[in-house]
This record gives sequence, structure tokens and C-alpha cells, in this order.
Amino acid sequence: MDKSVEIDVDFALSYKKEQGRVLNLAWVLPRPKRDHYKGGFPLWFEEKLLRFFGIDLKDMAKDEVIQLFSGMTKYGFRVDLSKEVKPDLICDCHKLPKEWNNRWDIAICDPPYNDEYSKKLYGTGKIKYKDYISEAVRIVEPGGFICSYHWAMTPRPDGTDLIARIFVGTRTWHKPRICNIYQKHKKMKPNPSNNTQQID
Ligand SMILES: C[S@@+](CC[C@H](N)C(=O)[O-])C[C@H]1O[C@@H](n2cnc3c(N)ncnc32)[C@H](O)[C@@H]1O
Repeated sequence: MDKSVEIDVDFALSYKKEQGRVLNLAWVLPRPKRDHYKGGFPLWFEEKLLRFFGIDLKDMAKDEVIQLFSGMTKYGFRVDLSKEVKPDLICDCHKLPKEWNNRWDIAICDPPYNDEYSKKLYGTGKIKYKDYISEAVRIVEPGGFICSYHWAMTPRPDGTDLIARIFVGTRTWHKPRICNIYQKHKKMKPNPSNNTQQID
């Protein structure tokens, strides 16, 4: 008898529903990506994360997944301030296009982790968690997911539930990361008066 269990987003959701608990996973990925982009994801992180969501990498559509602060990531629609990383859109992730309400299934956020790193590594400005994460929530469809990759445990954004935490061990002497995965409430709808969203 096959007793293997697929540890994926559906498992995380049923675990939360049945046990009332958040799934914690640990991935050890001790090698850098081949592009060696400063602050880049570890090798295979992107692929593993997309597979966790059941996404077929060969067939994935550009309008399923958005990468905010994309750097040199490979998959989905990529948004970054730097034209050197050839994003699909050059844009400040604290203020995304107004017409993007409820547009994407999954948003992955990997910002510089503080203002000093932002300036020193990328020549970019201040990073405001509340601003970019609420934008990520706005542009994801109800029931969709927001992945917050950071070296800190990030606070749960309004209008979402925390459904999984992936602890990522990296190279020796490198700080581990945490990818918190939030699910947007299913009953959120756009508020046309101020371009934000409200919960029924
Ligand atoms: C930690 S790196 C992302 C690395 C990426 N996950 C990878 O694997 O290649 C952060 C990125 O955020 C970009 N960035 C900094 N501030 C930004 C902002 N306000 N809006 C959009 N992108 C920004 C930088 O140019 C940099 O490419």
C-alpha cells in the first residue's frame, strides 16, 4: 500500500481546516542559483515553491504567478525596479497598477530585507512591508496566495490567513530564510471608491 502523502498546498489547507494548525516545512537548499544574483533565491527554491502549488513549470501561464521584487527569477510575470534584470514590468512594488485588483493566483515577494541592503545592493529606496504586502494582497484573487520570503517572520497581512511556513536552510554562514504563505480571504472584493479592498 502506498502511504506517501503529497505535501503541497492542498495538504496545508486541509491540515489547517482539520487540525486548526499551520503547516511548517523545512527545505535545505545549500547552493546558490547559477546566475549568482545578489540576494537571489537558493538553487531550486523557485521550482520547489511552484511545485508546492501544483504548478506545471513547462505549461505555466504568465498570468498565474507574479514575482514582486523579481530580481533574476525565471518564472511568472516579473516586476522589478531595475531594468538590468529584464523584468516584464519596471515598477515600484509599493504601488502596483490600479487595474490589477484580484488578477493573479499567486504573488511571490522577495524584497531587500532592510533599507540599508536596498541602497547598498540595488541602489533602491526604502522598503515598507505594509505597503508592498497590501499591494500583493490586492492584486491576488480571493482564495489566492501571497508568499512572503524574508529573513524575519513577517506579520500576517489583513484579509489573509497564514497557511504554511517554509523554513529555508541555505549555505553555511548564511542566514536561513522563511517563506510565509498567506491565503487571501475568499470574500474580499474591490472597493471602487479608493482602489483598496474590503471584506464582506
Ligand atoms: C532580494 S532581490 C530579489 C532576488 C530574486 N528573488 C532572485 O532570486 O533573483 C530584491 C530585488 O528587489 C528589487 N527592488 C528593490 N526595491 C524595489 C522596489 N521598490 N520595487 C521593485 N523592485 C525593487 C531590486 O532591484 C532586486 O532585484
